[in-house]
Amino acid sequence: MTAANPAESHIYHSPKLTYGSYLKVRELLSLQVEQSDPTHHDELLFIISHQVYELWFKQILHEMSVVCAYLDQDKPLRAHQALERIHRVQHLLIEQLPLLETMFFVEFAKFRDQLRPASGFQSVQFRKLEFTCGNKNPKMLALVGDDESAKAEMAAFLDKATPYDHFLRHLAREDNNVFNIPTDVLNRDTTRPHETDDRLVEALVRLYRLQDEHPAGERYYAQMRVAEALLEFDERFSLWRFHHVKMVERMIGSMTGTGGSSGAQYLMNTVLRSFFPDLWAVRNRFGSTGYGEGGGGGKGK
Ligand code: HEM
Repeated sequence: MTAANPAESHIYHSPKLTYGSYLKVRELLSLQVEQSDPTHHDELLFIISHQVYELWFKQILHEMSVVCAYLDQDKPLRAHQALERIHRVQHLLIEQLPLLETMFFVEFAKFRDQLRPASGFQSVQFRKLEFTCGNKNPKMLALVGDDESAKAEMAAFLDKATPYDHFLRHLAREDNNVFNIPTDVLNRDTTRPHETDDRLVEALVRLYRLQDEHPAGERYYAQMRVAEALLEFDERFSLWRFHHVKMVERMIGSMTGTGGSSGAQYLMNTVLRSFFPDLWAVRNRFGSTGYGEGGGGGKGK
């Protein structure tokens, strides 16, 4: 069958495709299987919340790989646009927590024990994201227990270059080596987390200065936007961690987690962790009277 109006021809392309079959809605709705017996009313919310998180983690990983690809192609504006999308997803991740907090802790206590030893600790995609961004902790592989394929999937992310590595490589390709990115940084061991490196803080000072002062500042401005967007990703990650740990305290106080950690105490220690410490350190170098390029601290104030 063909459409009378060519503009509507797409309508007949896949006569069998429906909303339900395309989105696999039937399969999706069969994936919420409560463990509580008798079934607790709130467990459905608990399951759906976690499943939605996993879907958004998938989207963030998908977007993060395109951020890296655009930086490899020296397209900072496009990388920035993908990072903006990631920020929007992170906003949802944070805003979703209060929904789960509509569950009273006394109700959660009625089915929590039946979930042992399952825990967010074992989220493979969360670890992939942490590994991708530089929180490289191989000990996390053991948390998924005997699931060898999950371990292998996670391990493949341990030595991935981070988006910040891709950003530095992009900066290193600028004409006349304007940012002076050291070669050892470009060839660094990507199984290690990032640590503050004064030489890179120096390169960032130059970038933030050039976007302001150079006649070709627009290009540098686009690069600065990427740096700021990476920092925003880092900040939003911590904000999620903080809200999550407050929710955990609200739900289980200082009891140990179902995954076997010390619970809120363990989680609180992760809150201030940052993926890209140079991006935070560069802020110490700017003051009201000028830029701190070439020196230890900012000149201002
Ligand atoms: C009632 C709600 C929740 C409680 C009481 C809770 C509790 C905990 C606890 C105690 C831990 C520490 C590990 C352990 O020993 O189990 C943990 C880790 C974690 N949870 Fe939750 N959680 C809740 C909801 C969520 C939700 C909705 C997500 C979304 C995916 C989530 C994701 C995670 C992740 C990714 C970790 C690992 C964090 C890390 O190692 O840095 N949790 N959770």
